[in-house]
Amino acid sequence: MGHLNQRNIIIGVCGGIAAYKSAELVRLLQKQGACIRVVMTEGAQAFITPLTLQALSGNPVHTELLDAEAERGMGHIELARWADAIVIAPATADVLAKLANGDADNLLTTLVLATAAPVFVAPAMNQQMWAQAATQENCDTLRRRNIFFIGPEAGEQACGDIGTGRMSEPSAIVENLNAHFPSRALDGLRVVITAGPTREAIDPVRFIGNHSSGKMGFALARAAREAGATVTLIAGPVHLATPEGVERIDVESARQMLSACEQSCEHADIFVACAAVADYRPIAIADHKLKKQGEAGLTIELTQNPDIAATISRDFPELYTVGFAAETQNVLEHAREKRQRKQLDLIIANDVSNDAVFGQDHNSVTIIGPELQLHLDKASKLQVARSCIEAIATDFHRSD
Ligand code: C5P
Repeated sequence: MGHLNQRNIIIGVCGGIAAYKSAELVRLLQKQGACIRVVMTEGAQAFITPLTLQALSGNPVHTELLDAEAERGMGHIELARWADAIVIAPATADVLAKLANGDADNLLTTLVLATAAPVFVAPAMNQQMWAQAATQENCDTLRRRNIFFIGPEAGEQACGDIGTGRMSEPSAIVENLNAHFPSRALDGLRVVITAGPTREAIDPVRFIGNHSSGKMGFALARAAREAGATVTLIAGPVHLATPEGVERIDVESARQMLSACEQSCEHADIFVACAAVADYRPIAIADHKLKKQGEAGLTIELTQNPDIAATISRDFPELYTVGFAAETQNVLEHAREKRQRKQLDLIIANDVSNDAVFGQDHNSVTIIGPELQLHLDKASKLQVARSCIEAIATDFHRSD
């Protein structure tokens, strides 16, 4: 289960056309195991019925501040205390102004005043209204008070304008909430992750490399950190920012990567080999830049690099090891064979038969263990990484 499992979330819906997206937001949060209570303003009810959101959330929708019925069950103070987060989506210019002013003239604004939980707003309004100094100043005030903003996005608007003011997609809102609530599934554990390509020098200026961007490995490092692990990220040459709280060791060649892994794995609990390691390297690195050889061409003799994943799993039999298998055909079959040959606990297979993975921000994978086959639908690499970390944590604790 994800980071939002069993989290109590109030979704505040205000009167804007984007209110129809709140239904999808409720559904996505439900799927993550969150407990949802919906609060609607009067304006919101003109766009979407309470019944729709009641059916999706599985709980009665709250609409009134002074509701004798509700006060007997869960009144506004209980509701404010119950919440682990309040998410206002869509947040109109009006509600932002009310919040900036500290108003408590309806249930939603009262809850924001009465809660100690973090408050997220996903603004949605006409681009001119968003750009207005009054709105922007209200937003500045709210940011200073640690209200979290999600969006708004730029693009075409329901009113026909083009500009900034579209509500962020429900999936982006869920991603933000996920980042806020760590799963802690790897609390106290030490994880070593390899990422990116390796470079095998030919001479002082040339090398053999590959197109790996390192995005998946970096996303895994971030997700493992969010889950509470102490993370060492051993990265080949990539242009990516180090995820917060992660120790990074930069390497170039496969042999440097292996030696960094050997050292870091001494004290590790989990090893994840995500790097695209060059299988071969030149036997000798020329001391000087190679000259053109003319018509005769140039032959560079290569020798096989060590397999880092297989070496680490052999040298540290107690370590829980995870590998990746990028395949173009018979993906699952090849991945299973690779898992056994390299003696890995889990292997994460992805189909790279079309160009939809390398350097991209999205990925779809299947996680394979001796008794496990879990397919993850296409999603952002960060979302996939979080799901992989959850699966790794679950399997790690099961085999403890
Ligand atoms: O054999 P193949 O390269 O397809 O295996 C991929 C898996 O093995 C990945 O987890 C990759 O990080 C790892 N690997 C490695 N060292 C190598 C080659 C691959 O760790 N020399």
